Amino acid sequence: MIEVKDLEITIRTQSHKIQAVRGVSFKLNEGEKLGIVGESGCGKTILMKSLLQLLPPTASVDRGEIWYEGKDLVKLQEKELQKIRGKEIGMIFQDPMTSLNPTLKVGYQITEGYLRHFPSATKKEAEARALELLVQVGIPEPQLRLEQYPHVLSGGLRQRIVIALALAAEPRILIADEPTTALDVTVQAQILDLLQHLQKGKSTLLITHDLSLVAAFCDRVLVMYAGQIVEEADVEELFARPMHPYTQKLLQSIPRIDGKGERLLPIAGSPPDLSQPIQGCAFCPRCVESMHICREKHPPFFEKKVRCWLLDPRRVK
Ligand SMILES: Nc1ncnc2c1ncn2[C@@H]1O[C@H](COP(=O)(O)OP(=O)(O)OP(=O)(O)O)[C@@H](O)[C@H]1O
Ligand SMILES: [Mg+2]
Repeated sequence: MIEVKDLEITIRTQSHKIQAVRGVSFKLNEGEKLGIVGESGCGKTILMKSLLQLLPPTASVDRGEIWYEGKDLVKLQEKELQKIRGKEIGMIFQDPMTSLNPTLKVGYQITEGYLRHFPSATKKEAEARALELLVQVGIPEPQLRLEQYPHVLSGGLRQRIVIALALAAEPRILIADEPTTALDVTVQAQILDLLQHLQKGKSTLLITHDLSLVAAFCDRVLVMYAGQIVEEADVEELFARPMHPYTQKLLQSIPRIDGKGERLLPIAGSPPDLSQPIQGCAFCPRCVESMHICREKHPPFFEKKVRCWLLDPRRVK
């Protein structure tokens, strides 16, 4: 449904040029739940925003294509993009207050959003739809909530409203950036359940730093490191047989559901500075298995989809 090809995005600051996304390619298939996982700062949000050309003004797509319905979104005019945003591809942003206007009542925001996408609907129809959506996302006392302002609601309710807003136009694809990060564990599980229920059979891209969310929600996963995808796998396969040393470390840093296993290990070191050129493999300085070539040369994908020299079939062990 969406195909990203060799995407490169840089962000200009006063003194630097940050390579936030460094040659990313992937496909989101029909009906699939795809996860993108990686540490803070690896470029998840920038990548997500580029999919709908909502990048900050300092960011630019230097190379690559984003194909949707036979159109390259990178080259599309703003007017065309507006028809796709929200309506065809719905979005849940990392910060819920980006989607919600604190100065407007919840009901007004959902009705306005609905009317923008369905201009021929009457105000009454839009209001009925707003109420229906709040029921759908499991908000108690929906009638009352429609009359409230976002800031008086709890984080969990606010996130449900954000989901209602994203789904108001019945998009074909939903992209959710850390939809549960700000919430406590119980509410997190509820929101994930809700998304699972609402998105059944529909394409969803879930962006998170949390592999346990990926395990609970996704069919397939892309592991991102320093602006690149370093491993791509079906979720079950990734958990059973992580191939990239970074993925292996990520897995060791999350608790196991059965409570077994070794101690949780944080990944030593920190990701590279993306404003500096990176030679060789970006993970090399943190990798206990690194070889000479890893420092020198950027690894291509080996095996199915793992960007790591350790998997080069020519390697002599
Ligand atoms: N507006 C901006 N101006 C300058 N640099 C930015 C801007 N937005 C992002 N960056 C930089 O781009 C890189 C990728 O950022 P991005 O927000 O995509 O990371 P992320 O993976 O979403 O992290 P997180 O898990 O913390 O949300 C980081 O190095 C970040 O500091
Ligand atoms: Mg982010």
